[in-house]
Amino acid sequence: MFLEKMLQSQGFGTRKHCQQLIKNGAVQIQGEVKQIPKEKVDVNELLFCVYGHEYQYREKVYIALNKPQGYECSHQSTHHFSVFDLFDDVLNQRGIQCVGRLDQDTTGLLLLTDDGQFLQALTHPKKHVAKVYQMHTADVVNDEQMEKLKQGVELRNEVGIFAATDITCLADKHLQITIHQGVYHQVKRMLAAVGNKVEQLHRHQIGALQLPTLAEGEWVYLRQEQVEQAKYRDLKD
Ligand code: URA
Repeated sequence: MFLEKMLQSQGFGTRKHCQQLIKNGAVQIQGEVKQIPKEKVDVNELLFCVYGHEYQYREKVYIALNKPQGYECSHQSTHHFSVFDLFDDVLNQRGIQCVGRLDQDTTGLLLLTDDGQFLQALTHPKKHVAKVYQMHTADVVNDEQMEKLKQGVELRNEVGIFAATDITCLADKHLQITIHQGVYHQVKRMLAAVGNKVEQLHRHQIGALQLPTLAEGEWVYLRQEQVEQAKYRDLKD
């Protein structure tokens, strides 16, 4: 691949801008300054530096973020920060998108990618990928509420029944549920439908991928096997 094309594909701006970076001597590979925009580079396991920062070539990026409270999953956030503020310009210029959305006050596992097929595979309603949430509720979740959540509830303006495929009571007012759909405010609305209220919500798992050990606001690139795990319909292989 041409050096200028490689830089452009990694989020370093327009082709013109990448050509300029190269001509300015900002780009190094294996300690050597590269000043020919059309030099061919082997992208396989390529490490390169731009203004002294090292980057690894990635055809697509798959990111797991431990989303903090107070961040919206939209570019044009109005009342809160945007999750995209947690990433540098290079990643944002690659066009990363959130894989589904979490409410501003929900914490936990949020995936971001620039791979449209991966995004579709996880968010298409017919794929039914499992999502596991842990929550604190206003009241103790009683047996009747547990049963209703398992049987499924109706939600206003949504077609069908919304059920938890797995429910575990972790402690008083502390519940873990697994769902396979992903409509707006689904978990909060499900709990409201059975007469309770979600006070804190945290996503712990998508498919078979659990939230890696990350402080709130921290993120990591996923390895290929983790990318595959996230696509599982069920919690295990
Ligand atoms: N369900 C909700 O109610 N909120 C979220 O952020 C995710 C699922």
